[in-house]
Amino acid sequence: MDDLPAAAFRRADESPDELFYRQPRFVTHIDAGAIAAVTGLYREFLPPGGRILDLMSSWISHLPPEVPYAQVVGLGLNHEELAANDRLSAFVVQNLNTSAGLPFGDGSFDAAGLTVSIDYLTDPVAVLRDLGRVLVPGGPVVITFSNRCFPTKAVAVWHGLDDHGHLTLVRRYLEAAGNWTDIQTLDRSPRRGGRPSGDPLFAVVGRAAGPDA
Ligand SMILES: C[S@@+](CC[C@H](N)C(=O)[O-])C[C@H]1O[C@@H](n2cnc3c(N)ncnc32)[C@H](O)[C@@H]1O
Repeated sequence: MDDLPAAAFRRADESPDELFYRQPRFVTHIDAGAIAAVTGLYREFLPPGGRILDLMSSWISHLPPEVPYAQVVGLGLNHEELAANDRLSAFVVQNLNTSAGLPFGDGSFDAAGLTVSIDYLTDPVAVLRDLGRVLVPGGPVVITFSNRCFPTKAVAVWHGLDDHGHLTLVRRYLEAAGNWTDIQTLDRSPRRGGRPSGDPLFAVVGRAAGPDA
């Protein structure tokens, strides 16, 4: 993101993220309709039986309950939340804003999800570039977000944009990473009677281009 100044990725709270996430939060960050939309996207894009990486994970992964996966690995900041997540077969506690490199080998996963958290990354391009390395070529990442956040921990550029701007920004993160293809932006906001209902839900989906990208 050479066209954005460093200030775009500052936060109101620049204290170490480990402090903010030290207390577990056994809450949901979006409402039931938006969670159902995330689960629907996972049903659509994540291969059943695959090895799944849940990036910026907590106590809940939103994966379709009826679908078995070979492995689900979570990476997040709160040990208690990750330990309570019954979909995870393993987890790692790591601050992606101080260590953007993922502790996994090339092609270790078939797909990844990153739910309502992309706005907290101070170097999202570095994280997404390394995510492209740890996925098999063609493996999808499903990045979802709503219009809610922990405001002091979201980067400045996020606060300056509306929902459409967020979709464009996240698409640009994947393009800037340089190793993603087939990038789509989706509005999966729940509707009732043709009208928006509850928390909106947006997604950017890309596929890892592989080592020759
Ligand atoms: C709003 S919660 C979303 C959690 C989960 N993905 C969900 O859908 O419920 C934000 C998550 O991002 C993780 N997180 C925030 N900052 C992080 C960082 N610097 N490095 C790694 N994970 C981080 C936190 O541990 C927390 O679980």
